[in-house]
Amino acid sequence: MKLQTQNLLTLDELTKHELLQLIELGIKLKRYSKDGKNFYELKNKTMAMIFQKPSTRTRVSFELSMLQLGGHAINLSHRDLQLSLGESIEDTAKTLSIYVDVIMARVYEHKQIELLANNSSVPVINGLSNTFHPCQILADFMTIKEHKDDLNNIKIAWIGDCTNVCNSLIYGCSKLGINMSISSPQGYEPNPDVIHESRKHISIEIDDNPSHMIDKADVVMTDTFVSIHDIKNQDKRIQKFLPKFRINSSLMKKANKNAIFLHCLPAKRGYEVTDSVINGTQSVVWHEVENRLHMQKALLLSLFDI
Ligand code: CP
Ligand code: NVA
Repeated sequence: MKLQTQNLLTLDELTKHELLQLIELGIKLKRYSKDGKNFYELKNKTMAMIFQKPSTRTRVSFELSMLQLGGHAINLSHRDLQLSLGESIEDTAKTLSIYVDVIMARVYEHKQIELLANNSSVPVINGLSNTFHPCQILADFMTIKEHKDDLNNIKIAWIGDCTNVCNSLIYGCSKLGINMSISSPQGYEPNPDVIHESRKHISIEIDDNPSHMIDKADVVMTDTFVSIHDIKNQDKRIQKFLPKFRINSSLMKKANKNAIFLHCLPAKRGYEVTDSVINGTQSVVWHEVENRLHMQKALLLSLFDI
């Protein structure tokens, strides 16, 4: 399958069919990988990876995805590029497009990834911006599918800060027709444009009472209270979120008995989630980590029509 979109910046670019196909391909590639089958379809293809922010999972899983598909990834931290000395994003995009076949970038302002995509002749993948994290949500839907099978009849609850991960999740749920409930303190709600657009397709309840929003959820998700770009407001944020929005065992009990718990990681244990929940039997966080690799291989193959 070749995706209709050249770039993946938010997740809103994908159709329902494409999203379901990507999930299936990710699951298939995981199975093949466990069976020791190799695919070198990206032989001689190169990816440039730009990181304006730190990363563990995104960096390693993308580099390994290219390697395992027979291609190559070049890691470019922001300070290694002329970008850090004032070269424009536009000229950086044009230059990199001459050399490489795909660009993955982790940036601060979402506008920067849009500028990169608008000036690149090769596909651009958002490896996280302040506003969206589509690759995380692709892997998370794969993880949910592995544990819940029928995506048609589930409810997803998001508790805590409505981060970049949450915004891409809402777009994904709106594509798949999955209803959501969201609980965050007032003033920390999801991006209003994302909510407005997605409410045309699904029901999204928003309330600052986590016990109400987690009620009867099949999937419970959260993220750090202090995203990388929010570090300067760390103390204020922690005061705002704690203790009410911390997912502990008693809050988790209000979800359905078979509910699963997801967190994109890195987690600040004891803040947004207790050790008992993240280490508990309902937690699937290590599956999410593993699935980043397989889903990104699925994404790359689908961007290149292979
Ligand atoms: N979940 C995620 O994107 O992790 P990294 O910040 O380590 O890449
Ligand atoms: N919301 C977090 C996600 C990290 C993967 C951040 O932006 O730091």
